[in-house]
Amino acid sequence: MNMSDVFSEQEIRRGLGTKLVGKDIHIFDELGSTNDLAKTMASNGAPSGTVILADSQTKGRGRMGRSFISPPGVGIYLSIILRPTLPPGRLPIITLGSGVAVARAVNEVTDLKILLKWPNDLILNTKKAGGILTEGKIENDEMSFIIIGIGLNVNTEIEHFPSDLLPLVTSLKAEKGEWISRTALVKELLKQIEWIFFQLEQGCEERIIKEWSDYSTTLGKWIRVSSQNSVIEGLAERLDETGAMVLRRSDGQLERITAGEVTIIKDFK
Ligand code: BTN
Repeated sequence: MNMSDVFSEQEIRRGLGTKLVGKDIHIFDELGSTNDLAKTMASNGAPSGTVILADSQTKGRGRMGRSFISPPGVGIYLSIILRPTLPPGRLPIITLGSGVAVARAVNEVTDLKILLKWPNDLILNTKKAGGILTEGKIENDEMSFIIIGIGLNVNTEIEHFPSDLLPLVTSLKAEKGEWISRTALVKELLKQIEWIFFQLEQGCEERIIKEWSDYSTTLGKWIRVSSQNSVIEGLAERLDETGAMVLRRSDGQLERITAGEVTIIKDFK
């Protein structure tokens, strides 16, 4: 590891300039899962804007019960606690907005172009470079808190991954061909998440959905969406105003999808 890239609160705070995100920053050498700790801290009253960052995770979690491989010194494993004033139905848009924030941050720092696979896989050159796991607690029909968990393979050597995953995963360093400062990326991520969060709080959902669509690797493709109790295929036409995927099935019928695992079956390009 490049020693200048050991996470330090002082370095992350330098010139950060955010108003909310990074209000409190907690850094750990190793955690089970930053999302798990963030949830406990949020339940115990941690303020909106609290950031939890780990150099490594032993139980990093992904969507659909998957694990997120989190070796030390090379990746970003970060959770942000936010307390939105938006109604719980807006949670999917916050998730999509977080994807936009990561894509913007990666582009700003590395010039690499992340694409977003619905709902929130971070894709570089058709391979997965990271993902986002948003979790929340709803009380009395209000969002008590949400946790945005971001995992990014930054300087990760691909050999860290199990052999069956090798064709499917990548890291920013593998694609860029050079070492990338995790600290610079964390700072930009915090700035971009704050920007998106303030946009959403001001009701600019349409703008976020438009921007997500521009980064999308899913729209315009024939896809299969698998969830616990169904498998549906269709053309991924667009996102609706809540962030749900609108699929056109082969019989022309429209289906609104709010969760599931997407496989791209056919790319019409
Ligand atoms: C996915 O690929 O399905 C989502 C991966 C999310 C991983 C991040 S790493 C930081 C945070 N803590 C976790 O346990 N998971 C998220």
